[in-house]
Amino acid sequence: MSATPIDGKAIAAALRARVAEETRALAARGVHPGLAVVLVGEDPASRVYVRNKAAQTVEAGMRSFEHRLPADTTQADLLALVATLNADDDVDGILVQLPLPAQIDAQTVIEAIAPDKDVDGFHPVNAGRLATGMPGLVPCTPLGAMMLIDTVRPDLSGLEAVVIGRSNIVGKPMAQLLLARSCTVTIAHSRTRDLPDVCRRADVLVAAVGRPEMVRGDWIKPGAVVIDVGINRVPNPAAEHDPAAKKTRLVGDVAFAEACAVAGAITPVPGGVGPMTIACLLANTLQAAKARRGI
Ligand code: GUN
Repeated sequence: MSATPIDGKAIAAALRARVAEETRALAARGVHPGLAVVLVGEDPASRVYVRNKAAQTVEAGMRSFEHRLPADTTQADLLALVATLNADDDVDGILVQLPLPAQIDAQTVIEAIAPDKDVDGFHPVNAGRLATGMPGLVPCTPLGAMMLIDTVRPDLSGLEAVVIGRSNIVGKPMAQLLLARSCTVTIAHSRTRDLPDVCRRADVLVAAVGRPEMVRGDWIKPGAVVIDVGINRVPNPAAEHDPAAKKTRLVGDVAFAEACAVAGAITPVPGGVGPMTIACLLANTLQAAKARRGI
C-alpha cells in the first residue's frame, strides 16, 4: 500500500485563484484589499518569504505595502509603524515578519496589531476567538493544513488527532481547529512520554516540531492522514559522491518514504503545507477586508 500524496501546490494554486476571483468582484464594488508586510533586518530566509508574500499579493489583485526597516530599529519605532498601519484605511491586513531582532519583544508587537487586521491570527484576541468558536482570523499554517486534511478526510468527527508541537503559531491553533471539528485531540511535545505510542493512536497526525524525519514509519497508524508541517534543511548525502548535486535538501518532520508505506494520505515536503501558508494569508486578507466593511 502506498499513501495518497496530498498535493499542496495544486490546492494552494486553486485557493489563490478563488481569492483572486473574489478580489476582482470586490474591485468592481470599489473595494481594494491591501496587505502590509513589515520586515525588520536582513534575515535571508525572511527576505525570501516577504518577497514571495508581496508577489503573490499583487498576483491575487490586492495591494501590497512593503515596509523594510533596518536591523537596529527600536521597538518604539516599530510600534509607531504598527499604529500608523492600524489607522490606515487602505490597509486591511498587517503582518510583521518573525523572528524579530533581539531588542524587540515579538509579543508586544503582536499585541499592538489591531485584531481585525491581524492576518497572522497571532493576537491573543484571535487566539481567544478560535478557542471559543467565535469568527476571527486563524493562523495561516494550521488553516492551510486543515484545508489539506479536508481534501482527503472531510468528516473528522470522533477521530483521534495527535498534534506534535505546542507553538502558538502552529501546534495550539491546529489543535483548536481539530477540536472544533470534533476530533479527540492530543497535543504532544518534547516532554511527552512514549511519543511513538501516542502517535500510533492518531487517525490524523500533524507533525510540527522542526526535527528532520523524527516521525518514523512505525509511529503511524495504518491508513492515517499525516500532515508534515516541518521544513528542515539537511546535508544532501548525494553531494558526498556527486559534486554537481545540491549541498543540502529539504525534509519534513516525517520520514516520508517510511510513512508512505503505512499512511492513507500524506503531505510531501516540499509541496505540501508550505504553499498553503501564503495562500491562506491572502484568504485571511480578503476575509479581513470584507469584515471591516461589513460585507
Ligand atoms: N515567520 C515564519 N513564518 C511566519 C508567519 O507565518 N508569520 C510571520 N509573521 N512570521 C513568520
